[in-house]
Parts: sequence; structure tokens; C-alpha cells
Amino acid sequence: MAKQIQAIRGMNDCLPADTPAWQQVEAKIRQVVASFGYSEIRFPIVESTDLFKRGIGEVTDIVEKEMYTFDDRNGDSLTLRPEGTAVCVRAGNQAGLLYNQEQRLWYMGPMYRHERPQKGRYRQFHQFGIEAFGISDADIDAEVIALSAELWRVFGIEDQVELQLNSLGSNEARADYRSALTEFLVAHETALDEDSRRRMHSNPLRVLDSKNPEVQAVLADAPRLHDYLDEESKQHLSKLCELLDAIGIRYQLNDRLVRGLDYYNRTVFEWVTDSLGAQGTVLAGGRYDGLVEQLGGKATPAVGFAMGIERLVLMLQSLGKLEGLRPAVDAYMVLANDDAAKAGVQVAQRLRQQLPDLRLMMHCGGGKFQKQLKRADKVGAQVALILGQDELENQTITVKWLRQDVPQQTVALSQVVNLLNDLN
Ligand code: HAM
Repeated sequence: MAKQIQAIRGMNDCLPADTPAWQQVEAKIRQVVASFGYSEIRFPIVESTDLFKRGIGEVTDIVEKEMYTFDDRNGDSLTLRPEGTAVCVRAGNQAGLLYNQEQRLWYMGPMYRHERPQKGRYRQFHQFGIEAFGISDADIDAEVIALSAELWRVFGIEDQVELQLNSLGSNEARADYRSALTEFLVAHETALDEDSRRRMHSNPLRVLDSKNPEVQAVLADAPRLHDYLDEESKQHLSKLCELLDAIGIRYQLNDRLVRGLDYYNRTVFEWVTDSLGAQGTVLAGGRYDGLVEQLGGKATPAVGFAMGIERLVLMLQSLGKLEGLRPAVDAYMVLANDDAAKAGVQVAQRLRQQLPDLRLMMHCGGGKFQKQLKRADKVGAQVALILGQDELENQTITVKWLRQDVPQQTVALSQVVNLLNDLN
């Protein structure tokens, strides 16, 4: 037998048993973004490598070691998108959507990062993201966070997630803090691990994120970001907090929260959960007022977030929130013989036109009546629609309920629509 080819490690199929969960999650996401008036944007999966180098930052984990980068046949360096924000800005700039305009956009789709796969962390994963352009006031930061909170409400997991919030300040404030932090880290170099020593000069703020308890112990005495915040950023943060208080969104101020992408300034936030193990961040984002200009557009304030859909689905599964999903088939047509098969396709065609929401599967390939009924059960149908010899002669159809204790009914073909209407 020929050797089976396997999927790439960390890139998973979404099998038929799982697609109803994904469809439900996606449908609810669409409902929430629509209720906030956001518009969908779709963009390519492959972009110029430079976009991510310039957008995300040369000394981030993503750009240093996680991108799927390759030369295409023309020798151009291309990269599978590791995230959507830089791409959204590129698309917005290119289409002239951002300058002097407001845009509130959302997107959903696969992203690619060459990370070590584990539960909740994959090499192909899916993000739902929103990006709001053209508004510098903290009210839009509050809206973006409120939209994320609405997701938790809709999915019934508000009590499973916690909002961590911080401000990175202006670029100048962050530069001052960066110098102070570097100075501190250099003075404590011997107590740091290799990773932190490497980052100490290139990206010192990321040292704050270290998971190493020894590094965290050293950091206890490090200068605090909050002490370096500029006045305007402080006001921005306090307005945001007031707005969140007003709509009853609880948050934890955490001045160690710095995020792994370079484009942020002022507001950064993450929704975290205990129910996912190590990969506890379900949704993360913040303000990135410099990115549009950095990618060649006119200066435009912006704020957004992205959520990991796999992480949300895992959470919903582990909390038992994905039960009772509708299977792919509502009704299965069982056919007595070739004549019935012919009549059956006509009946099915009419029913599908009359009841667009009905999921009707025809039996194909002949076979015994009992086998056909088993098949109807296996695909999860609520009813079997039976066309036997008697039915054919009398222009009727028999409806057999497969999951309810209701006697089967034989009705005129013209009446079956009324019976099936209730299935939707
Ligand atoms: P990020 O923190 O890199 O931010 O990713 C956002 C979310 O995507 C994470 O919180 C996580 O739920 C999910 N995620 C990231 N990597 C993986 C992975 N390897 N496997 C599974 N899920 C993953 C961004 O991507 C920014 N673009 C967010 C943003 C939008 N900021 C402003 N606008």
C-alpha cells in the first residue's frame, strides 16, 4: 500500500464532526460584529515579507523565528500571514480607505506561525480580528473592548475570562522607560537567563514577559512602566477605565503587560482564562497609532484586537457549551426501488425549493430498506421520508420520526411541506 501523506505538524483538519461547532462560533461572531456596525474585509494569505518585518518589528518572536517565508518563482520573498493587523493596514492604505476617514473593520481566517505545537497553539490557526481606524479618543478603545466582552456574553463564558489592561504610553515615554529598564537589566545581567540577556538590548520590554521565576524575581525591583507614562497617555487610560466602569466591564491593571508585537502604543489588553492550560490568552490587542504611517500611509490612529478561534472553541468544548448543535441533515429520503428514486428526486427538488432551510439528503446507491433507515439514523436526521410502492401509487409519502416517540404518518405529497416546516 502506498504510504499515506500526513498533514503538516500543527496544521489541523476541521473534520465534519467539528464543523458545526465552528459554524456556530463564526455565526455568533458575525452577529456581534454586525450589531456594532463593523464591515468585513478579506485579504490575501500571502504577502510581501517586508510588510511583516516593518509592521510587526524585526526583533519580535514572530519575525525572528516564526514566519513561513519563501521565495516565489520570481525570487520575491513572500510570507504566509502570521497576523492580520499589518495586512489590514496594507490593504487599507492601498485602497485609500484610511486617510482622513474612519473605518471599523473585521476579518476572520487562517494565520501561520512556526511555533512549537501544543494544546491551543498551532502552526495554522484562525483569528477573528477587528481594527478601528481614524479615532484617537479612548471611547473607541472602550468600544473595541466592549465588543470583545459581548462575545463572552453571547457564548456564555463571561465568568471564565479576565481582562488585563495596560498603557504603554507614547513612543517617547516608552523610549525613556526602555532606557531605564535596559540600564536596570544590564546591572542585573548575571541573574538573567540567556533569553533575557539576548533581549535585554534588542527588545527589553519583552523581558518583562519572561516565564522564568528567577527572572521574575529580579524584575520585582525593576523600574515600573506606569511611572514613565506621559500625561496624555495617563488621561487616555483613565478615560478608558471610566468608560469600562460605566458599562460594567471589569479589568485588572497590569503594568507588566507589554504584548509581543512592536506596533502598540498606549492601550494594550488581553483576555485570559484558566481553562486552557498554558495557552491562556484567548484574545489580545491594543492601540497602534504609528503603524499606518510606518507602512507608508498618512498618520492615522488605530486600535483593534484578534481572538484565537481554536482557543475559543477549546474553551467552549471544555465547558460543555457546544452541545445540541444541529447535525448536517434534517431529513433523509428512503427509496423503495428505481421508480421511487425517480419520483424521489422530484419530490426532493420541490421540498428544497419550498423549504430553503431544510437539510434534505437523498439516499443514493440503492439497497435494502433497513440499511437505508440505518443510514438515515447515522447521519443524524430527524425524520426519514419514505417513498415505497404504496406511496408511489397513492401520491403520498411516509414520514418516520427517528428521534421522537411519535407514530409515523403517511400524508399526501402536497402536505409534507407542512409537516417538515416544523423541523427548521
Ligand atoms: P497576537 O497576540 O499575536 O496578536 O494574537 C492574538 C490571538 O491569536 C492570541 O491571543 C491567541 O488567542 C491567538 N493565537 C496567536 N498565536 C496562536 C497560535 N500559534 N495558535 C493558536 N492561536 C494563536 C495579534 O495577532 C494582533 N494582530 C492582534 C491585534 C489586532 N492587535 C491590534 N489589532
